[in-house]
Amino acid sequence: MSYLAKNYNRKKISFKFGKGSYLYSTNGIKYLDFCAGIAVLSLGHAHPKLIDSIKKQSKKLWHVSNAFEIPEGEKLAKKLCQKTFADYVIFQNSGTEATEAAIKIARRYFFSIGKPNKNRILCIKNSFHGRTIAAIFASGSKKMTEGFGPKVPGFDHFTFGDHKSLKKKINKNTAAIMVETIGGESGIKVIPDFCLKGLRKLCNKKKILLILDEVQCGISRSGDFLAFERSKVKPDIVPIAKGIGGGFPIGAVLMNKKVASGMTPGTHGSTFGGNPLAMAVGNTVMDIVSNKNFLNNVKKVSNYFLLKLNHIKDKYPNIIKEIRGRGLLIGIQLHKDQTIFINKLINNKLLTIRAAENVVRILPPLNVKKKELDQALKIITKVCAELK
Ligand SMILES: Cc1ncc(COP(=O)(O)O)c(C=O)c1O
Repeated sequence: MSYLAKNYNRKKISFKFGKGSYLYSTNGIKYLDFCAGIAVLSLGHAHPKLIDSIKKQSKKLWHVSNAFEIPEGEKLAKKLCQKTFADYVIFQNSGTEATEAAIKIARRYFFSIGKPNKNRILCIKNSFHGRTIAAIFASGSKKMTEGFGPKVPGFDHFTFGDHKSLKKKINKNTAAIMVETIGGESGIKVIPDFCLKGLRKLCNKKKILLILDEVQCGISRSGDFLAFERSKVKPDIVPIAKGIGGGFPIGAVLMNKKVASGMTPGTHGSTFGGNPLAMAVGNTVMDIVSNKNFLNNVKKVSNYFLLKLNHIKDKYPNIIKEIRGRGLLIGIQLHKDQTIFINKLINNKLLTIRAAENVVRILPPLNVKKKELDQALKIITKVCAELK
């Protein structure tokens, strides 16, 4: 009997320990972990540098209130700003808190310039921005909001890729457009660079803000530190989380100077957000994953892996419909429901995770080795052959 509520349909596997790209189950089976805690374990399990930094910091100081200065947080915020478009950072503990804070920052900015009615956020229908009460209504998904009414007002929706409906939905009360640069849960849907450029142009024209949710696709997962960088677009606000903590819960919002001007003392806060223990780990992850050589390697192994996956798709066109994604945020879209496929991968000791549109999501640690990718390719080929 489990005393945990039944809000998850958990697989009947538990793990004793992890090392690099591998997880070892309590009943002695070694799995290749290409779920990586859903894009969280950017450096795999038990990375020695992360162990070292958490050990060292845990002996010094775990937590102080944000009522005081926190040098470890100052250090990480500086690194994030120097690496990105951002001028300022607010630390949180999770992705959904980061997206909520992003919404607050957008609204507060217009409030602070005397336009409090400009408060509506325009999002993609059936996207994913987290599970808090506002974030589920931002997603516009029936499944996620059912039973959680009353509806939180202030969100409008357009269909992915439908430029006409996007333009039509902007009105005088729109404060911001918020989209994931690469939709994760929605099925690894990449917004092309020309669309990101178009979004920025549209936001400038309408004098509204652009929020790019990089909770899943950010922190080097796409092969660039932030996934939108390739497009040369500069957003106003970017929530991040997952990969920056490498397994330690950290969320953050990156923002430019303009919008940060509304965030005066008392407008936002978090008890745990940015505590020294979290920041020590975050600094170590940041130093490793933002390095140019590290990023080049993500691109290199990704090119190899995507090429090989496309070969498998060409061999099994009746099973695989499309290979999606960028960097190490990859989706194998199947023609049919992916449950059997994922279970067969598990039986062959490869862990992946589902996404919408029949997608099998593949999220290896960013420091994955070529031989581990080859092992996964072999398993995927075997499963395709079994299902043929
Ligand atoms: C794009 C995006 N935004 C927000 C979230 C919510 O993050 P968390 O589960 O840490 O609250 C997720 C989680 O998967 C996500 O993928």
